[in-house]
Amino acid sequence: MQVECSAMAILHPMLTTAVKAARRAGNVINRGARDLDLLTVTTKGPKDYVSEVDRAAEAAIVETLHATYPNHAILAEEGTAQGANAAAEHVWIIDPLDGTTNFLHGFPQYCVSIALQHKGQITQAVIYDPVRNDLFTATRGRGAFLNDRRIRVSRRQHLKECLIGTGFPFRDGSNLDVYIRMFKAMTLEAAGIRRPGSAALDLAYVAAGYYDGFWEVGLNPWDVAAGSLLIVEAGGLVGDLDGEGTYLYGGRVIAANPRIFAQMVKLLSPYGRALTPAHATET
Ligand code: IPD
Ligand code: CA
Ligand code: CA
Repeated sequence: MQVECSAMAILHPMLTTAVKAARRAGNVINRGARDLDLLTVTTKGPKDYVSEVDRAAEAAIVETLHATYPNHAILAEEGTAQGANAAAEHVWIIDPLDGTTNFLHGFPQYCVSIALQHKGQITQAVIYDPVRNDLFTATRGRGAFLNDRRIRVSRRQHLKECLIGTGFPFRDGSNLDVYIRMFKAMTLEAAGIRRPGSAALDLAYVAAGYYDGFWEVGLNPWDVAAGSLLIVEAGGLVGDLDGEGTYLYGGRVIAANPRIFAQMVKLLSPYGRALTPAHATET
């Protein structure tokens, strides 16, 4: 991990509120994790589960944010969509529990992801891992932090030395054949590939330099929003499979340190044309 031992600057007030919301959600998640067998779980679609914990965590986040910012719009995975439209000035983009399948199995890799979009730009980001009590934060222009330490993306220069994170299409299996070709191409080039199962935490790991790069197709804005700001503030790049700027709502993401980003785009962009459809419901 690339870190600097600088104390974290005073938090932006909006980030302070987002951190409070993320920690409250983390408490809900940790309580739920004590007895997974008691949880009520329903299915939203093929292999797409939601538990009462996802919903309670989202309610805690929305309540905390709205207590301070009652006029801000919300775009949250479990259905809270208050006033979120293209014209909204402030939109909180929330995944209350990213990695629900892991959570339901007691596999300790999941997180809370909260981002603020201001006039179309992500300006605040929190990713909170309640298992490790790891808090990743960023405010645009002020760097990225893990707890109280500044983080930076890795410095590796060659894909063959790199540890790369990913996520595969597991829901309806569409695009699986193309994905397997991408996976093969990357496996032959990189030092190692990991698929832990929480895209938001994967992006935080790129910012912290644990991974040198990450890619996935079929993501939603709540998977990507907070992690994308962490990476940019840690000195990395985020784009779609062509390296362009449609990654937040387009579902296709490559994120890496700048040198590795270019190499990943070169390797993966040819497969983008074979993927359908072009948006986030791909998995
Ligand atoms: C999922 C996780 C997973 C990714 C999926 C996401 P959820 O989020 O981030 O790693 O591969 O595309 O939908 O449903 O657990 O919030
Ligand atoms: Ca998610
Ligand atoms: Ca989720």
